[in-house]
Amino acid sequence: MIRILIVDDIASTRDNLQKLLSFEEDIEVAGTAGDGRQGLEEAHRVRPDIVLTDVNMPNMDGIQLTERLAAELPASPVIIMSVQGERDYLRRAMQAGAREYLIKPFSHDELVAAIRRVHQLEQKKGTAGRTPGEPDVARKSAPGDVIVLFSGKGGVGKTLLATNLAVALANETKARVALADLNLQFGDVGVMLALDHSRSITDVVDAGDGLDAELLNEILATGPGGVRVLLAPISPELADLVNTEHVRTVIGELRKNYDYVVVDTACHLAEFNLEVIEQAQRILVVTALTIPAIKDAKLSLKVLESLNVDSASILLVVNRSDGHSDFNRESIEQTLRHTVAAQVPHEPRIVGDAVTHGAPFVTLHPESEITRVVRDLAGQIGREHPVAVGAPGPPGPEKQRRRRGLFGR
Ligand SMILES: Nc1ncnc2c1ncn2[C@@H]1O[C@H](COP(=O)(O)OP(=O)(O)OP(=O)(O)O)[C@@H](O)[C@H]1O
Ligand SMILES: [Mg+2]
Repeated sequence: MIRILIVDDIASTRDNLQKLLSFEEDIEVAGTAGDGRQGLEEAHRVRPDIVLTDVNMPNMDGIQLTERLAAELPASPVIIMSVQGERDYLRRAMQAGAREYLIKPFSHDELVAAIRRVHQLEQKKGTAGRTPGEPDVARKSAPGDVIVLFSGKGGVGKTLLATNLAVALANETKARVALADLNLQFGDVGVMLALDHSRSITDVVDAGDGLDAELLNEILATGPGGVRVLLAPISPELADLVNTEHVRTVIGELRKNYDYVVVDTACHLAEFNLEVIEQAQRILVVTALTIPAIKDAKLSLKVLESLNVDSASILLVVNRSDGHSDFNRESIEQTLRHTVAAQVPHEPRIVGDAVTHGAPFVTLHPESEITRVVRDLAGQIGREHPVAVGAPGPPGPEKQRRRRGLFGR
């Protein structure tokens, strides 16, 4: 039985929801409340499996309620209900830890599907793991996996995939996930997730040797699903302040505190990109279905090979595949001599909606095909990785030598 707490300040809405849910044999309304404060008290009393809450309410609004529940009762996930036009609230609610949202008016089927989805996910995760309100300074025993997205050609979808993959990883597993924007001049992670850009990697530079888990925790923004985000500098000229040593230090520190460190990059083989590649357990080479993009993917794979990167750690991701291209999966695999790990569909409507609203499509459109593919990719990464490319810690002499060789330094 899935036990629900309904929180809404309009009595007729509470009654309607209660009636709608009474038709379901596996769902029970365990309590109702007329504002956020009552909702919190009631949640502590009845310990519901799911809290269904409105946004605008007196005393304590739905966003504050979500924050409090995430911190105090992580086993009671929140579904937010709001009206069209409250997108900004929705985004804040998701960042506060809400698992799902429903736009009013919604149908009986949409309501029940959202409840079952959140419940299923919660059961899969268990509640023993990460709680969104918990500070991220607890030390882990093994260093986390670095997953770097790379492409030879720009604009192929690295940032879109990095942001959605990070959120999918956080949602699908109990893992702590960090996302680092190393597209230092023109990083887009902040806009794609509509994050507050008051702190960034420039604060890491300013910290010098004083960087530790606590300071890093303050520097990281919080994105959907509790993903912690290291943003790129606010302005391109500040990128020059960041050097390879900073990148090495910050990735190392992130690995100590997070199970997965997803890294978005700019499409050039700068020294710091190579630094991350050397630390990476997974390298996602992203390509589009155009001749220049495939050519650049081939060159990228060649460079990775010359860097001695194990090909088992490389996942080839083909983005915007829509069946109208001259390339099919077989021809790409033949040309690039690598299996395709994921074919991400071209979904302009869903992607456009997500980018416009600064929210990941994996939460905005959980039922879409593009979400299914990204979740599947997260599943492939979430499994034990077969071969580590870079062992934790500094790269071995062999790799150092190769990198210097490649760039003649
Ligand atoms: N699967 C897709 N379906 C529809 N549109 C897509 C898809 N993937 C990417 N796009 C569009 O392409 C744009 C570029 O994507 P994105 O910014 O993620 O690329 P990038 O590789 O990070 O670019 P850069 O190299 O400039 O950082 C996105 O704003 C999005 O609108
Ligand atoms: Mg990008």
